[in-house]
Amino acid sequence: MERNSEIPGFYKRTVEERRQVVREWGNLTEAEARSYDIPPGIDRGILERMVENVIGAFPLPLGVATNFRINGADYLVPMAIEEPSVIAAASNSAKVTRATGGFRAQTSDPVMIGQIQVLDVVDPSAARLRILGEKANLLAAANAKDPMLVKFGGGARDLEVRVVPSPRGTMLVVHLLVDARDAGGMNAVNTMCEALAPTVAQLSGGRVVLRIISNLAVYRVARASATFPAAALATENATGPEVVEAILDAYTLACVDPFRCATHNKGIMNGISAVVVATGNDFRAIESGAHSYAAFLAKDGGVLRPLTTYEKDRNGDLVGTIELPTAVGLIGGATAVHPTAKANVKLLGVKGAQELAQVLVSVGLAQNFGALRALATEGIQRGHMSLHARNIAATAGATPAEVDAVVERLIAGHAIRIDRAREVLEEMRRHPKS
Ligand code: MEV
Repeated sequence: MERNSEIPGFYKRTVEERRQVVREWGNLTEAEARSYDIPPGIDRGILERMVENVIGAFPLPLGVATNFRINGADYLVPMAIEEPSVIAAASNSAKVTRATGGFRAQTSDPVMIGQIQVLDVVDPSAARLRILGEKANLLAAANAKDPMLVKFGGGARDLEVRVVPSPRGTMLVVHLLVDARDAGGMNAVNTMCEALAPTVAQLSGGRVVLRIISNLAVYRVARASATFPAAALATENATGPEVVEAILDAYTLACVDPFRCATHNKGIMNGISAVVVATGNDFRAIESGAHSYAAFLAKDGGVLRPLTTYEKDRNGDLVGTIELPTAVGLIGGATAVHPTAKANVKLLGVKGAQELAQVLVSVGLAQNFGALRALATEGIQRGHMSLHARNIAATAGATPAEVDAVVERLIAGHAIRIDRAREVLEEMRRHPKS
């Protein structure tokens, strides 16, 4: 019989009832269904209030990056991520920066952009001025929607109006700039945009459609820099200055080639997103902001720009910088309710969203440096593969006591595959001393 995914009242059922439905649907074993269990220490009610149709939880590994020193203070940085090597690389890179004082980080004010799209305006340039002429009243009306934000020093700050040609006629796009303080800003900005829309429509003589935050948060950026001493970068096969040159060569490809730049920036986000997830923030917003900023930076030419830069200083040491939008909050959203996110924010010890943003960009720079250093020297696969090999060994059935020996043989044989792991394991068990 054909199955029907239209399940009336599914959302009203209990977690157990839903679990039973999906278990039958997916033909899941008891053990498979148990893997959905909500971990002890997490109140299921919290998860049920966060999203719909909950059947369980999906635990990611949570690790902690060590060695981070940012603006003179030390941090242990929680990172939730499925990818091996990321946490180790961040920790190793952060260690290299300690001799030169660690990371120096800063932020702009936490100003988000809300967009109001206006169509069917007959005189867009004049309408733009009519709206700008009412700026003070519009900002006051926006702020009246969120007195708490205003009380904490935030609120609507400015208004911009863009005239944007489009295949469906010229549009006006009003940008409401809102200082979101310690919030991500989504709710405050969207509410304000919706509130201003009727007045904007009236002033422009047009028709409003979209009223929504922009993830290209160009006014809410964080920046960090760090010096990686050449002397600390020497390998068995290359001197420190040679490694600096190789990293600069590797970085430069990201500046001139979008295919490399995409991967370069992905590596940065390995670190940033892991902290964003661990602190319960909206990782899609941060990813969208980062990658659209990479395109925005290329407005004077090219397609994408790397979110980091590398230069050599007078001493021949490598200096890295990073800048990207960081629309993270500490109040509202999952950060304020998810118990693991709350514990991680406490562990991190950040006092506000801007401090969190400074940690994020420092981790992003560390992650990127770690990737470039590996790529420019021994290649990424050696470090990557040893962790991968551990997974393969365990999947092949190696016990904890056998894993190391299996991994060693897989790496030595340059064949990190499940079939080879099974063979190795069989051989080891047949000849325990070999
Ligand atoms: C892998 O997740 C990330 C890297 O590809 C980043 C990079 O190439 O810079 C290693």
